[in-house]
Amino acid sequence: MTLLKNISLKKYNSFGIETIARDFSIFQSQDELFEIVDQYHDRILESHLILGGGSNILFTSQLLDTIVLKNELKGIQIIKEDDDHFYVEVAAGENWHQFVLHCINNGWAGVENLSLIPGTVGASPIQNIGAYGVEVKDLIDSVEAYHIADRTIQNFTNAACAFDYRDSIFKTKWKNQFVITKVLFRLSKFPIFKTGYGAIETELKNMGITDLNIRSVSDAVIKIRSSKLPDPAIIGNAGSFFKNPSISKEQFETIKQSHPDITGYPNKDGSVKIAAGWLIEKAGWKGYREGEAGCHSLQALVLINYGHASGSEIFDLSEKIISSINQVFKIPLEREVNIL
Ligand code: FAD
Ligand code: EPU
Repeated sequence: MTLLKNISLKKYNSFGIETIARDFSIFQSQDELFEIVDQYHDRILESHLILGGGSNILFTSQLLDTIVLKNELKGIQIIKEDDDHFYVEVAAGENWHQFVLHCINNGWAGVENLSLIPGTVGASPIQNIGAYGVEVKDLIDSVEAYHIADRTIQNFTNAACAFDYRDSIFKTKWKNQFVITKVLFRLSKFPIFKTGYGAIETELKNMGITDLNIRSVSDAVIKIRSSKLPDPAIIGNAGSFFKNPSISKEQFETIKQSHPDITGYPNKDGSVKIAAGWLIEKAGWKGYREGEAGCHSLQALVLINYGHASGSEIFDLSEKIISSINQVFKIPLEREVNIL
């Protein structure tokens, strides 16, 4: 396999940031992945980027002096079933939303609340994608991954992935050590609908849905998301730029005294998870624009590229927001998006 030189990554990241990859290659089969890792082993060990859909990445330099390997592994198959479940093995380069639609068309239940999340199946365990009361960890049986240093395929059970809110072992202990090649999902033959989250019930009513099924839940989620999240094909973004922070119950009560409209969700450890979008809006950033970078006017947690922003412009805005939220609420925001 040959490495392509000086490739623009603008169309490969949902922020639409222009950056040049010094070395770039696409792998469409495991053999192609093995071949390229064999060929450039030392250089890949030194520095590389496994690229999926580029929907959770912000490139901050004009030149990316690393080997970029774009994952295009394809394939979806049922490998076993029991009375209640299908076990569906999905290659890491499949598009997430297309996979969700495939599940809905086949009557495989569980992923419908995760409709319309951009990116690839292989990236879904990395930050344990989640939306509308479901996280992908609830549906993953195991993850197959290629260890770059050892050049071996390894299998991670759900427990071994150490999933947490927007977190997994692939972001911590094993960061940049593995290429996720396949994910095995355990999907239900009999749906258990999770419509309790926020706007889903309301949306189903507005849509006049009386017959609840996985397609109607998916349609409702798609409608809600489309009403407030910018479409990256039109306006560059990477979804939530920051994670929702957890604070102590005491701090939550203190903020509530001055801001009775704050909402929080209790965590098992007694802390309270609050909405970073609310904090950012309260601090006055919603709809703010500085040059080509901005804070979305319908969802303050989403930073946007008006068209020609550089990655560092977006990053600088994120720094200002972090410092402002620290000043106003004494809460440190953590970025969800991977900064490169
Ligand atoms: P990339 O951005 O390409 O990569 C992300 C990270 O994972 C990088 O560090 C990359 O190196 C690594 N990586 C990717 N693939 C592999 C692999 N096969 N092996 C090893 N490492 C890999 N996220 C949510 O959780 N919930 C949401 O509701 C949500 N909504 C979004 C809405 C919009 C409009 C956008 C733009 C983004 C949203 N996101 C959401 C974030 C994003 O879609 C997810 O994080 C998604 O899983 C990223 O997939 P990707 O293939 O684009 O990953
Ligand atoms: N809110 C505001 N102002 C805003 C935005 C939000 O006050 O500008 C308030 C809302 O009114 C609501 C609360 O914040 O009370 C939560 O808002 P929303 O339901 O839009 O969800 P979120 O917490 O902002 C999280 C995820 C999203 C996921 C949605 C739906 C994180 C970091 N983000 O957003 O995931 O789609 O819930 O479940 O957890 C992503 O990770 O990229 C992402 C988009």
